[in-house]
Amino acid sequence: MSHPKTGELWDAGFRAGKYDFLHKESEKERLKVIAGLVAGFAATHGICEVVDIGCGEGLLLPLLDQRLVSRYLGVDISTVALERLPASAIEVLRICKSLGEWDGKPEPMVPRVIVASEILYYDPDGVGELVRLATSSAVPQRILVSCVAAHPGKPNWAEASTRLWQELGEAPLNEIGRHSVQDGETGLSWDIGAYSL
Ligand SMILES: C[S@@+](CC[C@H](N)C(=O)[O-])C[C@H]1O[C@@H](n2cnc3c(N)ncnc32)[C@H](O)[C@@H]1O
Repeated sequence: MSHPKTGELWDAGFRAGKYDFLHKESEKERLKVIAGLVAGFAATHGICEVVDIGCGEGLLLPLLDQRLVSRYLGVDISTVALERLPASAIEVLRICKSLGEWDGKPEPMVPRVIVASEILYYDPDGVGELVRLATSSAVPQRILVSCVAAHPGKPNWAEASTRLWQELGEAPLNEIGRHSVQDGETGLSWDIGAYSL
């Protein structure tokens, strides 16, 4: 996999429409699963906030239940992507930082769900940074990770995702669920892992 490394390159990609494919209905299917897992967390822990690391254009935001989510923190290195976050009845904070640079502030006042959807590949220590973030706060946390699964046309994806699942398995996190979502049209699929501390 070759990845843009800087916010400027991601900005240029968003301006050029390189990530427009993320708006496809099939991509929404995996985001719907994530939104459902947020709702499940809120059902047991009460109203929560969602930290969406590498939120891109905030495609998860409209899928979240405004009765269950009090605040959405969209964290991304691309200003262009953050400018495109949709309007929402949920309070929205735009945080233009890389995962490795963000200190997790403002402190959560309610339980927090950290979503890392199709982002961890882009940070040299994505899993380590995720654990650092989660452990920096005292409120109950849920961590939701989505990684694309191997595809015959894209063998290098398997390598990146396998490494991430392995690192997540070795991290000081408890895996509490694993879900799979498939795009019947393209054969693409995604695995979504749910973790607690
Ligand atoms: C493939 S998109 C995923 C967007 C969205 N999370 C989704 O699931 O559709 C990756 C996003 O991560 C952002 N990104 C890349 N590296 C990052 C980093 N180190 N820290 C924060 N965001 C990053 C990019 O700007 C882009 O918006």
